Amino acid sequence: MATAASTSAAAVLASRFLRRSPRPLRRLALSSRAPPAALSARPSSFHCPAPLGPQQLGHRARMGHSTAAAAAPAPALGLTKPNAVEPPQITFSAKDVEFSEWKGDILAVAVTEKDLSKDSASKFENAVLEKLDGQLGGLLSEVAAEEDFTGKAGQSVVLRLPGQGFKRVGLIGLGQNAPSTAAASRGLGESVASIAKAAQASSAAIVFASPSGIQEEFKLTAAATIASGTVLGLYEDSRYKSESKKVHLKQVDLIGLGSGPEVDQKLKYANDLASGVIFGRELVNSPANVLTPAVLAEEASKIASTYSDVFTATILDVEKCKELKMGSYLAVAAASANPPHFIHLCYKPAGGNVKRKLAIVGKGLTFDSGGYNIKTGPGCSIELMKFDMGGSAAVFGAAKALGQIKPPGVEVHFIVAACENMISGTGMRPGDIVTASNGKTIEVNNTDAEGRLTLADALVYACNQGVEKIVDLATLTGACVVALGPSIAGIFTPSDELAKEISAASEVSGEKFWRLPLEESYWESMKSGVADMVNTGGRQGGSITAALFLKQSSVLMALVLFLQYVDEKVQWMHIDMAGPVWNDKKRTATGFGVSTLVEWVLKNSS
Ligand code: BES
Ligand code: MN
Ligand code: ZN
Repeated sequence: MATAASTSAAAVLASRFLRRSPRPLRRLALSSRAPPAALSARPSSFHCPAPLGPQQLGHRARMGHSTAAAAAPAPALGLTKPNAVEPPQITFSAKDVEFSEWKGDILAVAVTEKDLSKDSASKFENAVLEKLDGQLGGLLSEVAAEEDFTGKAGQSVVLRLPGQGFKRVGLIGLGQNAPSTAAASRGLGESVASIAKAAQASSAAIVFASPSGIQEEFKLTAAATIASGTVLGLYEDSRYKSESKKVHLKQVDLIGLGSGPEVDQKLKYANDLASGVIFGRELVNSPANVLTPAVLAEEASKIASTYSDVFTATILDVEKCKELKMGSYLAVAAASANPPHFIHLCYKPAGGNVKRKLAIVGKGLTFDSGGYNIKTGPGCSIELMKFDMGGSAAVFGAAKALGQIKPPGVEVHFIVAACENMISGTGMRPGDIVTASNGKTIEVNNTDAEGRLTLADALVYACNQGVEKIVDLATLTGACVVALGPSIAGIFTPSDELAKEISAASEVSGEKFWRLPLEESYWESMKSGVADMVNTGGRQGGSITAALFLKQSSVLMALVLFLQYVDEKVQWMHIDMAGPVWNDKKRTATGFGVSTLVEWVLKNSS
């Protein structure tokens, strides 16, 4: 296969390996294609990019530019192919105009609870609301009272206004204060999306009843997060439905957050980021019969070919992984009819002046059945285990965004050991001993603890790229969901510095993380009688709630310690995103991790 370069062989590879050469083993030369024209939009504007369509997922066999295509089985099992979905194209503009002059479909006014207070004559004390109410002959105060709108966060009310410059006005509750965090302003964007969607509006404006309530230094972040919140709130993944809903919204004006090149640049950033988050969501939403390891590799290669000025792709097939002695990863892949693909994208900025080298590693299980320790019983969520490549979706979503943003001074390696955890006569058995690429032997006492087996070899490979910092993301343990619930990811790192960096990035992204301890003494339960270690710690009993929690967390710590395949000189962080990968209420992927990773890479760029 073309994947295995002319390969002057294992000896060369092994020696490179030992020398810890940062050079990858093989680079796929990928055809260059200009980035989508929509992204070089006119100033003050940006467009939301196209989501994955049939030219992408599911049609790889015809593309033929990657070796992954050759290994991919012909049509997807069940004959499913994702539909072409009209890409939502939204132009955002930051404007300094008087709201009453604005013309369009829906004027969204963001109000705090305080903004709704009235004077002794029952008039709004807030100047914007009073002016608007006057213009509407008192309709605004009437509807607020009738609908019991008090400005609480998440509340909204919409009024139809025949004969006005704007066809509708909507009030959106902000709670007690104007937004001062990324999460709050993203929430505002989502509310705007929701009222615009219900009204089938094609144009909208967002104004604040108290614009002075927004801190001057927060305005840029507010504009960007409102914009990305609107795009992501509007986006619905209908590629696998026989009919898709039309997105009507085309134009959104942001009033009161300034105007000019700085805010325009932020709006472009919001666009690039949103396209990465959407890509990540689509990867996770795609079922395992469509998104096989080969298709994931193909999607990654496409990022490299689309942004070929900054990316190169390396895809290693089974033979190559064998040469690299990735026994731990290959054992997980062994039962599947869909062969594994080890994926490595390398981002190098134009000009080549690199000050920092980073690696981002993602768990890429396109499906996790549990293997012989099959997932059974209510609550095991086997039917959701297509999301077990959520870590890799965060990695490639971030890669897509960074391919457009092109930060200088930083080199980034995106690494995913993609495979499927299945059951067959060729699969790994409980009790098997596997050997990872750093020579360590592992007794597999539970085939359902497969993620760490794949990550072990991926982390050894990442260390060999000569990077200073590694962040891995994985839907690793149900225990982390028990500990932190569905919307917070667990972080584990011996490095306080890295913990601070990710925490700073999360403040801008609005994604939630909580640091948990790497308790060395829990390693005890990971010892094996016959190998260097087992892959899961012993089960601890207990019926009291507190004991249950302690049991969960002790199992969790043991799992994380297992991931210490990382060179001690390298700063490393593990992120367990088993909870936030999926939104149960909305029955869809979240795109979790993309925003924080992009922000972290930007903080490491110069
Ligand atoms: N992919 C799962 C983790 C998971 C479970 C994510 C539920 C989201 C929801 C992982 O491979 C796994 O099966 N982990 C086991 C580990 C156990 C065998 C020690 C788990 O969490 O049960
Ligand atoms: Mn598992
Ligand atoms: Zn898994």
